[in-house]
Amino acid sequence: MSKTTAVANPNIAFIKYWGKADERLNLPANPSLSMNLAALTTVTTVEFEPGLPADVVTVGDRPLAGQALARVAAHLDRVRAMAGIGERARVASRNDFPAGTGLASSASAFAALSLAATRAAGVHLDEVGLSRLARLGSGSACRSVPAGFSLWQGERDETSFARQVVPPEHWDLHDLIAVVSYEHKAVSSYDGHALAPTSPFHQARLAAVPGLLVEVRSGIEARDLLLLGTAAEADALAMHGVMMTSRPSLLYWLPVTVAVLSALRAWRREGLAVYFTLDAGPNVHCLCQAADAAEVERRLRNLAGVLDVLNSGPGGGARLVEGHLF
Ligand code: DP6
Repeated sequence: MSKTTAVANPNIAFIKYWGKADERLNLPANPSLSMNLAALTTVTTVEFEPGLPADVVTVGDRPLAGQALARVAAHLDRVRAMAGIGERARVASRNDFPAGTGLASSASAFAALSLAATRAAGVHLDEVGLSRLARLGSGSACRSVPAGFSLWQGERDETSFARQVVPPEHWDLHDLIAVVSYEHKAVSSYDGHALAPTSPFHQARLAAVPGLLVEVRSGIEARDLLLLGTAAEADALAMHGVMMTSRPSLLYWLPVTVAVLSALRAWRREGLAVYFTLDAGPNVHCLCQAADAAEVERRLRNLAGVLDVLNSGPGGGARLVEGHLF
């Protein structure tokens, strides 16, 4: 056993994971497809320590407690079971981006934790095994394990993991995240998934996913932003339609969210190729070619209510790094 540090990037889904077929195993109601975000990182150090009475976890400078700690400890239990060890762990994790704003911090968190914890325990998993393990911590985390653009599919525990579709070098697609709020969302995506089946639109969205998935995948393979962007917008709007019509209803948008969406559509009419997607939060992910990223960023920064813009190209997979957080 040794002290180990890993890095992972969050990912942005073009076809969303919303609703679970199995809540305990994080088996999704539908396949999803995403891109890792190079500009945003989570770094996590893990060490199993003989004699430590309980897992100790800090995120940033904050010690985790309650449900958040229990979720990490349950994940460490999975790793302990694989390694056949009983020692509790010291875990420190740092994000270089704000958590809880729909920037998918649980994805990079559980991807980095899965890699750091398995290696710290002396367990070497291949990419498939690591993606499966990360999925059990947080569904979307399985997509942060492979590099670049990845597809998460499979209906059983053994077959549900993410695989690379194309590497990050394939297409320098940019995601400009218009940050419109830093507040922690009222309902986490973890709790939101359970509400999906209460929406009359959930089944309709699921029926549309296979067709949109083909379009997103072809769009990526052909580097066709129109094809990718149109399909990604359709699924993001369908997911938010499901959220809004769940009981109770989930409304993640703020007035400024809608203002960004309509600005984007106006820019498109002027000839600037930019498309949007949104996670379980009010921030808008704006997708464009690398050559247009500076112009899209400039325009976003000029919109009233946009607090910041994060600009990211495609990122690598979960990886080990030198140096530790403690
Ligand atoms: C809206 O992966 O956070 O970002 O599996 O319960 O941890 P759990 O949920 P999580 O859900 C992410 C939902 C989403 C869409 C997506 O990233 O596909």
